[in-house]
Amino acid sequence: MPNGRAAAAVGVFALFAATVLFGQEIEFNRDIRPILSDQCFACHGPDAAKRKTKLRFDTEAGARIELGKGRFAIVPGDPERSELVRRVASADTAVRMPPAYAGRAALRADEIERIRRWIAQGARWQSFWSFIPPQRPALPTIRDEKWVRNPIDRSGGAAPGAGGR
Ligand code: HEC
Repeated sequence: MPNGRAAAAVGVFALFAATVLFGQEIEFNRDIRPILSDQCFACHGPDAAKRKTKLRFDTEAGARIELGKGRFAIVPGDPERSELVRRVASADTAVRMPPAYAGRAALRADEIERIRRWIAQGARWQSFWSFIPPQRPALPTIRDEKWVRNPIDRSGGAAPGAGGR
């Protein structure tokens, strides 16, 4: 039946679109940190002198502080209650972040959407160090350690108090 097939096709397409749009997990370091560092760190970043509020986005603890009256910049799982979302998505230039008075344009719609989804997905933070790919110490180093440690241990007295016990 043609209608059934059409409906199926629409269904498959919808599923495909949903997978493309919502299926991918937002990753903090790849998708979110660059927005925060470009657009927010100037006033909410590492430079204490430039910070006008305790809220900062370069550390997880600084991003998760209570803003007063039970408000938080990031409420994991709940973008609509997150001050960060309210501020970046506001049409009111007096409210919107980054601030218009500083000559800053609003975030792009796709950036705002990405932040929303990250928060909806639980707002998992990643340390700055996750930028660095994990490295396994080279095997020869491990073997060397054994070689080095034994002679020192045997010499007794190489370390303070080592011979006395
Ligand atoms: C030019 C400096 C500047 C930049 C850039 C900036 N902010 Fe702000 N932000 C402020 C100042 C000043 C305040 C405090 C005054 C206010 O609440 O508007 C503030 C307040 C906030 C608050 C509310 C804090 C509270 O206690 O209620 C949030 C949330 C926020 N900013 C998020 C952001 C985000 C997200 C970005 C980047 C997209 C950003 N800001 C970029 C200066 C800045």
